[in-house]
Amino acid sequence: MQRFDAIVLGAGAAGLFCAGVAGQRGLRVLLIDHAEKLAEKIRISGGGRCNFTNREVGPANFLSDNPDFCRSALARYTPHDFIALMRRHRIAWHEKHKGQLFCDESAEDVIAMLVRECEAGGVQRWQPCRVAAVRQATGGGFELDTDRGAVGAARLVVATGGLSIPKIGASDFGHRLARQFGHRVVEPRPALVPLTFEPAAWAGFVPLAGVALPARVAAGAARSAVRFDEDLLFTHRGLSGPAMLQISSYWRPGEPVEIDLMPGGDLRACLREAKQVSKRRLVNELAQHLPARLAEAWCAANELGTRPVAELKDRELDALAAGLHRWTVRPSGSEGWRKAEVTAGGVDTRELGSQDFQSRRVPGLHFIGEVLDVCGWLGGYNFQWAWASAHACATGLSPG
Ligand code: FDA
Repeated sequence: MQRFDAIVLGAGAAGLFCAGVAGQRGLRVLLIDHAEKLAEKIRISGGGRCNFTNREVGPANFLSDNPDFCRSALARYTPHDFIALMRRHRIAWHEKHKGQLFCDESAEDVIAMLVRECEAGGVQRWQPCRVAAVRQATGGGFELDTDRGAVGAARLVVATGGLSIPKIGASDFGHRLARQFGHRVVEPRPALVPLTFEPAAWAGFVPLAGVALPARVAAGAARSAVRFDEDLLFTHRGLSGPAMLQISSYWRPGEPVEIDLMPGGDLRACLREAKQVSKRRLVNELAQHLPARLAEAWCAANELGTRPVAELKDRELDALAAGLHRWTVRPSGSEGWRKAEVTAGGVDTRELGSQDFQSRRVPGLHFIGEVLDVCGWLGGYNFQWAWASAHACATGLSPG
């Protein structure tokens, strides 16, 4: 049987980076992935330009049942460290909205960089390669049955990612393996995902598909409510856009989402002022502040829209303004794993060391990246988690 110091399962963002760092530290590393194509999620990320990190990353940008777990790894491998790596590989990048860093050219540049890092570390890669079984070896370490034969290592790093986009290789392998070794898994759920509504409840908004506007969205109990100020997009089945993707990670089925369709403005004051001076109908007055199609759909529900704003009572205008500043919707579900960018939940981090990501139950077993119950916001945070967790794990591995 071939033996290695470490086997890394999953050649995505975390697995490729971990294998390269460990290899360059002198470990004999085997990287295994079942997918035909390498690192598809990096390839399709950021619209093909990979939002590879964010300038400002901290524990508050992540959801987890164990919120402090990510602190150490994020502090030890920062966005600056990854930017320095990009510079060494001469990959040009630029900053977009809210500290988000993207490749100038293509996400392929990041994949090629990670492959070069693996080559520099002498990492062997078996891909595509299916793993049929994993067991602890009697003399310590692990043995894997694969379709390229049995293989053993002192250390096993599980970097098989989350459940989103099954058609490009996502699987629950990491969660099953964790359970096999006695680990708990926090119930996985789709995150960074568009939210949907019952067709009957959404029928009036279907014509708005494609309309986008800035919004403030909030979910959760009033005291602990989480808020995002981002763009909101109407779709045929519900709501999407960065605002909805962000809040979807916090939303739980049955709960409402509160939406301010004119954040930072005071629609009540605007309408009361218009009442004094404007000759417009209400729908046209609203269209001064909102996309015209939204103003029309909003007014279609009652006959107020066709009346001149000057004729409306203050209380009618106030009620309308309050409804648009505090639009409360109850999504019936989400677009699910097919459309989710990431998985919330995953391998429970309370049973792992936060320094080296090693299992407290099974020495030599490590979990990194999205397979863990650590889920980042939209904006480069999930890749930064992949890099930081991979780096912490790789620097904690010793030759077996
Ligand atoms: P990742 O999914 O990258 O890799 C897991 C690997 O394990 C895959 O190669 C898979 O084939 C392999 N695998 C699974 N099961 C296996 C098995 N049984 N045996 C062997 N191998 C197995 N994040 C961000 O920060 N910025 C962004 O711009 C984007 N954009 C984006 C767009 C889209 C469309 C999606 C779906 C996701 C993003 N993300 C993102 C999220 C980001 O892609 C994700 O968080 C990281 O890729 C997670 O890295 P991992 O290495 O943990 O998993």
